[in-house]
Amino acid sequence: MTATRPIESLSAEDAADELATLAKILHDANNAYHTADSPKISDADYDALKRRNADIETRFPELKRSDSPTEIVGAAPADGFSKVTHAQRMLSLGNAFTDEDVAEFDVSIRKYLGLTADQPLHYTAEPKIDGLSLSLRYENGQFVQAATRGDGQTGENVTANARTISDIPQTLSNAPDILEVRGEVYMSHEDFAALNTRQAEAGGKPFANPRNAAAGSLRQLDSLVTAARPLRFFAYAWGVLSDPLAEAQFDAIGRLKALGFQTNPLTALCHGPDDMIAHYQKIEAQRAALGYDIDGVVYKVNALDLQGRLGFRSTTPRWAIAHKFPAELAWTWLEAIDIQVGRTGALSPVARLNPVTVGGVVVSNATLHNADYIAGRDNKGETIREGKDIRVGDWVQVYRAGDVIPKVADVDLSKRPSDAVAFEFPEICPECQSPALREEGDAVHRCTGGMICPAQAVEKLKHFVSRAAFDIEGLGAKQVEQFYSDQWIAEPNDIFTLKDRYGTGLQQLKNREGWGEKSADNLFQAIEDKRTIGLARVLFALGIRHVGEQASNLLARHFGSWDTLVTALDAAKEKSGDTWDTLLSIDGVGDVMAGSLVAAFANDAERASINRLAASLSIQDAEQLDTSGSSVAGKTVVFTGTLEKMTRAEAKARAEALGAKVSGSVSAKTDLVIAGPGAGSKAKKATDLGVDVIDEDAWLDLISGA
Ligand code: IVH
Repeated sequence: MTATRPIESLSAEDAADELATLAKILHDANNAYHTADSPKISDADYDALKRRNADIETRFPELKRSDSPTEIVGAAPADGFSKVTHAQRMLSLGNAFTDEDVAEFDVSIRKYLGLTADQPLHYTAEPKIDGLSLSLRYENGQFVQAATRGDGQTGENVTANARTISDIPQTLSNAPDILEVRGEVYMSHEDFAALNTRQAEAGGKPFANPRNAAAGSLRQLDSLVTAARPLRFFAYAWGVLSDPLAEAQFDAIGRLKALGFQTNPLTALCHGPDDMIAHYQKIEAQRAALGYDIDGVVYKVNALDLQGRLGFRSTTPRWAIAHKFPAELAWTWLEAIDIQVGRTGALSPVARLNPVTVGGVVVSNATLHNADYIAGRDNKGETIREGKDIRVGDWVQVYRAGDVIPKVADVDLSKRPSDAVAFEFPEICPECQSPALREEGDAVHRCTGGMICPAQAVEKLKHFVSRAAFDIEGLGAKQVEQFYSDQWIAEPNDIFTLKDRYGTGLQQLKNREGWGEKSADNLFQAIEDKRTIGLARVLFALGIRHVGEQASNLLARHFGSWDTLVTALDAAKEKSGDTWDTLLSIDGVGDVMAGSLVAAFANDAERASINRLAASLSIQDAEQLDTSGSSVAGKTVVFTGTLEKMTRAEAKARAEALGAKVSGSVSAKTDLVIAGPGAGSKAKKATDLGVDVIDEDAWLDLISGA
């Protein structure tokens, strides 16, 4: 199958034929790689064919096909890698943008730990590398596995690729038996520029920035390709350890350096917010000369025992924060304002811009938030941009901070075309022509079409299959859009009847373009695999407004089973009564969220769709936290009065970590009240209701060893 004729001797006709053949072979090979674990051709053959294709395209650029395989260079679909479950989750960081935010970070930590302003509290400060995080596992000094962060819980196994990175030691001496080192893979500016030149020479697409280049290179299915890409690695954290590295963050980093890892030379030990900000300024001043991208400074509480006490919120540690550099700005023309309709019917105005580079990234779209923002007002009706509205044709300032969607921040009125007209926000949904209403107190216009609105329906379906929801392998946003537009699926349950409808018979999935027998079977199997699924995921997947991942977890943990949850939501539909109160008593559930939830279940059409889905699934009771041995798991506790051994926030976090529900008010459902000095009406109410009341020491005894 490999064509070997010298390229110089090819006629244009031969070249076109060969490009067509190569496109087919390479696309097939690519599909085989992603949908089956059995590639049809070897990696070396694949590369050779790809090179041949690129060479022919270089000689006959006019013959380059619209489906040219050259375009599939780079980010390999995730399906090509096996999955790795992180024994300890890989988290992200909360952000600080101003000096005040940094001071507040220190205050909140002191408050949590119960430290006064004059007690010492040290932090490390180090550059925040703009790359992608990687977890490296060493067993008995041998490098055994590398995994990307993925969704924090499950990443991709990129061990073979990580072995090609020279900053990553293959063996360690004097290391803990089990050691997971975490850090950032990145590419230097110099290497990035050279790579893009090579890409361009080979007819490939250039990478937008070093981070994309690093990510694309690490996630190559062929580790030879990764080896040819100059990736680097800074170690800055760790996961599972058989022995501690040190007692303090700063020393632990020193230990990683001694073990042979690259650690950032700008890591410093700071003695409080002023010191941290001074170091931030020092790093910022050197930013342009570093030779690699950084997007801020990370502060971490130095004492590891304090880090342990502070613990984590759902996705970020309490003991660390990223102080981001100010956003990048650029000016360009606003060419159009389009309206996108989201999953909850929100109409979002999107600025279509004349493409402009903002901090190394080409930006052609930016958010305009809502009608008020365009008109020059904020959510409270107050003037922004000195009241200047935004019009199609305007010269606008685009602003980008980190991964945040770019915004249009300002308008230069001196450049406004004389015929520019004020933007009229549509009152009709552009997708389904239903009225788009703006409720009082809401900044957003919402389409009232519900599931008859194709945009809402398809966005809901995309959300349903997304990572944190059903996460069905082989069924991503693209497939959902195609199936929806061909009326193969209209609501979530249709996914679970797909095989019955398109597994046999006249129209079959395997006969669709881009699908084959194997990939169709794989999808049907992936769908089957998700019929059994946890309660929290199902709840989150429904895409109910205000009910995010964290809320879904809370609700699932509170109600335990699907039936209990549904019964409770039905009983609470009037938004009053005991069940409604119970819903509100869940810490983290407010009346807006609860209202949205009961309304979704009380809506006839939506409920019918939910019921159809539930009937297709086996919904597992909420996962219990690992509270084995915990004497308070499942109990509802209330803290009142002053606690003397720990702060209220710490007490609450510890109780929750042991599986208890912490409530703010005492009711007949309360199991236990922990009362400190000064406890008043809550302790009295508990006694009246016959609920146990104990003091802080008794509580600590109760949970010790749990
Ligand atoms: S510490 C538990 N330190 O930033 C916290 N992260 O926005 C672990 N990052 O996912 C992260 N430089 O990929 C830490 N010096 C640094 C970092 C750093 C870059 C990345 C990391 C993380 C992301 C969070």
